[in-house]
Amino acid sequence: MKCTRCRTRAAVEVPRANAAFCGDCFTESYVRNLVTRAIRHDRMFGPDARVLVAVSGGKDSLALWDLLLDLGYQADGLYLGLGIGGYSTRSHVVCQEFADARGAKLVTVDVADRAGFTIPQAAATKRRPACAICGLSKRHLFNAAAKEGGYDVVATGHNLDDEVAVLLGNVLRWETGYLARQSPVLESTHPSLVKKVKPLYRVAERETAAYCVLKGIDYVVEECPLVEGNTQMKYKGLLDTLESQSPGTKHNFLFGFLEKGRAHFPPDGVVLNECVECGSATPSDTCAFCRSKTVIGVAIGSRPRDWAPAGS
Ligand code: AMP
Ligand code: FES
Ligand code: ZN
Repeated sequence: MKCTRCRTRAAVEVPRANAAFCGDCFTESYVRNLVTRAIRHDRMFGPDARVLVAVSGGKDSLALWDLLLDLGYQADGLYLGLGIGGYSTRSHVVCQEFADARGAKLVTVDVADRAGFTIPQAAATKRRPACAICGLSKRHLFNAAAKEGGYDVVATGHNLDDEVAVLLGNVLRWETGYLARQSPVLESTHPSLVKKVKPLYRVAERETAAYCVLKGIDYVVEECPLVEGNTQMKYKGLLDTLESQSPGTKHNFLFGFLEKGRAHFPPDGVVLNECVECGSATPSDTCAFCRSKTVIGVAIGSRPRDWAPAGS
């Protein structure tokens, strides 16, 4: 098999593009072009933006950080310590080693310091599923870290497969509010919110893995031990089956929705207030993160280090 671009020996086949690439054409041309197209087409950020890349230590977010640094962006990393035992320790080491090797800055925030609980502690209270409390904490702390550091935008490593699996879940449950908001760009809709972008949304999961292997990026292969058997993983399995039978299915489903479907789901028009405890945007008086801090803190008998009783 020959590289579609330069006719040398191909290293990666991309059935959905009916193409194959040698290592250099794949990393420096195919993947890079998908990312630059996303950044420009969706007006994610300009050349002078300060970008905070949320890095988990997995292939997607490290590939993203690598791409943004290579493209010349001011991109610092943000690692959130979730307190998930050896998995979190190994993830942090991998992120720090990547930052050191590239001479880049990694900001580290521990969920336990900010929330008073680790994700396994929160999950053990059975108030909410692990992934729900984890997602809620990540969204809150990505935003807080970006605000505190004066960043213009937060970039996450969500890839095409992630976006397609979320879309399938939202369609199966007709979550019209989520469908209206599903987008590779979430503009700031409140002074406390920083813009969020997903520059890898055109790149498939197997392509980010191939990118890391070809670029020699060391990443954590293991999945989070708490996500085993979660619904999104099941949707991904089903979508992989469809894709192998009809290459391009995932792309067509997502891009058909973004170009033709989403407009049919009007925004829910929720009015955002400032959380009375932390000032972040919330449709109620207290944001979901602050409510969780209190409820889970009571359940496990701990307080976050920056916690203070109301009125003190
Ligand atoms: P996930 O929620 O695990 O599917 O991850 C989606 C994206 O969130 C990743 O690509 C990262 O950009 C970001 N992310 C996940 N976990 C962390 C973490 N512990 N620290 C920083 N960013 C993370
Ligand atoms: Fe959030 Fe595992 S990374 S529950
Ligand atoms: Zn709050």
